Amino acid sequence: MNNPKRYLITSALPYANGPKHIGHLAGAYLPADIYVRYLRAQKRDVVYVCGSDEHGAAITIQAMKENTTPKEIVDKYHAMLKSNMADLGISFDIYHRTTAPIHTETAQEFFTALNDKGELEQKETEQYFDEEAQTFLADRYIVGTCPVCGNENAYGDQCEKCGTSLSPEQLINPHSTLSGKPPVKKKTTHWFLPLNKHEEFLRKWILQEHKQDWKPNVVGQCKGWIEAGLQPRAVTRDLNWGVPVPIRGAEGKVLYVWFDAPIGYISATRQWALDHKKDWKPYWYDNDTKLVHFIGKDNIVFHCIIFPVMLQLHGNILPDNVPSNEFMNLEGDKMSTSRGWSIEMNEYIEDFVKPENGGGQMVDALRYYLTSIAPENKDSEFIWKGFQDAVNSELVAIFGNFINRSFVLMHKLCKGKVPAFYNEIIDDKDKEMVKRIADAKLKIEDCIEHYRFREALFEVIDLARAGNKYMQEKEPWIVARQATKEGIPTPEAQAQIDNCMHICLQLCANLAIFINPFLPNTAKKMCYMMKVVEKMLDWENAGTMKLLSIGYSLREPQLLFRKIEDTEVSAQIEKLKQKTTQIKSMTENIESLEKSPLKPEIIFDDFAKIDLKVGTITAAEKVEKADKLLKLEVDMGFEKRTIVSGIAMHFAPADIIGKQVTVVANLAPRKMRGIESNGMILMAEDANGKLIFINPDEAVSNGSVVS
Ligand code: 2FM
Ligand code: ZN
Repeated sequence: MNNPKRYLITSALPYANGPKHIGHLAGAYLPADIYVRYLRAQKRDVVYVCGSDEHGAAITIQAMKENTTPKEIVDKYHAMLKSNMADLGISFDIYHRTTAPIHTETAQEFFTALNDKGELEQKETEQYFDEEAQTFLADRYIVGTCPVCGNENAYGDQCEKCGTSLSPEQLINPHSTLSGKPPVKKKTTHWFLPLNKHEEFLRKWILQEHKQDWKPNVVGQCKGWIEAGLQPRAVTRDLNWGVPVPIRGAEGKVLYVWFDAPIGYISATRQWALDHKKDWKPYWYDNDTKLVHFIGKDNIVFHCIIFPVMLQLHGNILPDNVPSNEFMNLEGDKMSTSRGWSIEMNEYIEDFVKPENGGGQMVDALRYYLTSIAPENKDSEFIWKGFQDAVNSELVAIFGNFINRSFVLMHKLCKGKVPAFYNEIIDDKDKEMVKRIADAKLKIEDCIEHYRFREALFEVIDLARAGNKYMQEKEPWIVARQATKEGIPTPEAQAQIDNCMHICLQLCANLAIFINPFLPNTAKKMCYMMKVVEKMLDWENAGTMKLLSIGYSLREPQLLFRKIEDTEVSAQIEKLKQKTTQIKSMTENIESLEKSPLKPEIIFDDFAKIDLKVGTITAAEKVEKADKLLKLEVDMGFEKRTIVSGIAMHFAPADIIGKQVTVVANLAPRKMRGIESNGMILMAEDANGKLIFINPDEAVSNGSVVS
């Protein structure tokens, strides 16, 4: 659709169940933001909506993990995601949430409209039920052994170890995560969207109308789904967290999260319109609106098959395009928050975006690298060294360098002002440069409008590279030195210098416009240096040589980008390794705890019989002919004790002298290898069998009571 009256741009609503990583940023948010910033610069009518997806099992499971309520979870992570996106320059017109009342109203109205038209089917089905918890179980609440890889903790909808999509029926030894008991099948009634009835519409709309303009991976996935035969899809669930099904008798049922989440785009638009006193309806009903959904590849079926069927039945417009991205891996492995192999947005902000670490320029550095490796057609890979190279050898050495040189030379050779331009002495190199700028505008437009953001960005960098080459060939600093009279360039030489610097400065201004959708902080800084208002960044100004007026004085250059040091790269790689190791050992600990059954219950009096006291190891030596034993002297404050402990395989005697430990002080004496042991030292054992002393958090006096 060319030149529509208005645009409605959406980015997938992230689940508010935890931080999101930079792979998410690169997939659905950054490209949409670039597109929207470009459209705004074009002065098009554009609204960019997003928000938190706050329903579904993703939320309730996180609440269980954090031992809190779903409401607390969504409140916490909605706030985090909203601020992270803003910090990274994602310029939503509204970042809404699906727990807002206007969303409940919108989603319920949508469901009722489809149901009243007879477009939904009500059917009795059998679903898994937890008899002890007295609740139906979402697929995610059923865990069992994966039939493909043997992972004992596969979910009812997917095995996260081997990635296989599963149904709960396929799990071996399925059990409920709520009670730990095997679930039973129970009858329940649900509403279904009969996708099978809309196959023809989808075939025509996707496989014919959009065959050429949608990405091949998107059309390919849709084709696969359609050819496999579409099935009716349940759009309600038995759950107590979600949008209630607006039908009498359906108490305890909610809309399926994937039914209500995309309607979140509509409710967000409604809220935006209310906030800005606008009419939201044309954005969802007028055919002259271009609707574009930016998503990751795991969301294709929902945005290209299910939601369009819903929209069409409801009388709304359909998306014009769904530019879905593939995945971004990290340092040779899949990015995963749960495994710790990820760079979370909040981590990057913490490490790089604080003012003392670089602020806005480091936001732009990330936006630059992520766009340059955007997984537009195939999976790509974030490498810290690649990030460093991209920043140091492209942003700093090409873009930043050209701007800096232009400003420095303008101050040195042109008295800090935009010099005059003499048409009569224009040469081929000048002409070529001027044409290159005009051509770049068309190329960048074409790329952005066809969602090829990497290529568009490379065109901007190539233009800066061409600027460096032009300046290098023209060598105005040599001209200034060679053709002089009494140390001052001759008028002819100065005219040559002026022409070169005039072109360079107009190129700087053009580069500010071109880079603005990608690196908005950089463009803003360049406006400051050029002493122009940000209105200069309007796209219609690009491609011309009239952006800066002759004689206008400009500021001193500012550093646009700082270099990334080797130490920063190695620190990040180290951090990544530590994070995964920590999470791995935590998971193993939990698993081993789950496996080691609790001892039978005791009453307080049983516990009170044990006298636990703090002591300090003052001497330690190996016990002869006993590999595992150490003989310890322990200062208990009130007396010194000899304790024999089976820790020789874990600690060298010299390393533990001076350590405070917890001692079972009233354990009956016991002879070990002929030595009387008077007490026992408490130790914790992790999943790998490593022993750790149980000692007070801070030093206390020996003999202190532990209770
Ligand atoms: O995959 C996800 O993270 C979903 N929360 C995306 C929802 S997109 C839209 F439908 F709201
Ligand atoms: Zn598996």
